[in-house]
Amino acid sequence: MDIFDVIYNCRSMRRLDEKPVPTELLVELVGAANQAPSGSNIQMARWLVVTDAGVKKDLAKLNRKGVENYIGPKKTRPAALPHQSKEKRSRMLDAVIWQMEHMASVPAIVMACMDFGEPVNDTMMSRGGGSIWPGVQNLLLSARALGLGATPTTLGLRDRQAVAEVLNLPSTMAAFCLIPVGYPLGRFGTVVRKPLDEVMRWDQWS
Ligand SMILES: Cc1cc2nc3c(=O)[nH]c(=O)nc-3n(C[C@H](O)[C@H](O)[C@H](O)COP(=O)(O)O)c2cc1C
Repeated sequence: MDIFDVIYNCRSMRRLDEKPVPTELLVELVGAANQAPSGSNIQMARWLVVTDAGVKKDLAKLNRKGVENYIGPKKTRPAALPHQSKEKRSRMLDAVIWQMEHMASVPAIVMACMDFGEPVNDTMMSRGGGSIWPGVQNLLLSARALGLGATPTTLGLRDRQAVAEVLNLPSTMAAFCLIPVGYPLGRFGTVVRKPLDEVMRWDQWS
């Protein structure tokens, strides 16, 4: 696959086999994530690869809380979007629920974190995020290129304190993204995005 094939076929893969992923592949993913740019080249991104059953179970519990809240009856989550039919959205929800049920038994969960060097507050969290997401995308693309499935998730990270306790993070660190990684059970497909004429303009917007 060339780089564009990888980019255009990098769907979120939530259904994952329990078969272990070799350590060297997990290291390769983090190696690629670590090549990403960061603001002022500050390189505060840190990558925690969780394979311990107990830690995975605790992260799965936090994810369950987030997903149950997301799918709960009082939510105003749209059933359909202009660019995603009701059927497709409902299939995505089924996959989110499958992932919730199986999170504890995925081979590895990569936690994308930042170490700010001082205790973290909400302002730092919102400013710092920009420097973690390029690494997350590098990791997702590398996983796709290696035939591994992955999904960027944040529903399990709402309770920052609980996440810090599960991962034994110092007060200077925070987790931004939880990425389950494993061999895919489903088939990879092409990503479906809005057409360029909707999201792109030349020179000025209107
Ligand atoms: C910031 C961010 C947060 C996300 N959080 C979750 C999540 O908590 N759970 C989940 O299953 N998917 C999550 N996703 C994945 C999106 O739902 C997915 O990328 C989107 O539906 C498009 O689907 P595709 O990647 O298969 O094209 C997240 C993606 C991003 C970028």
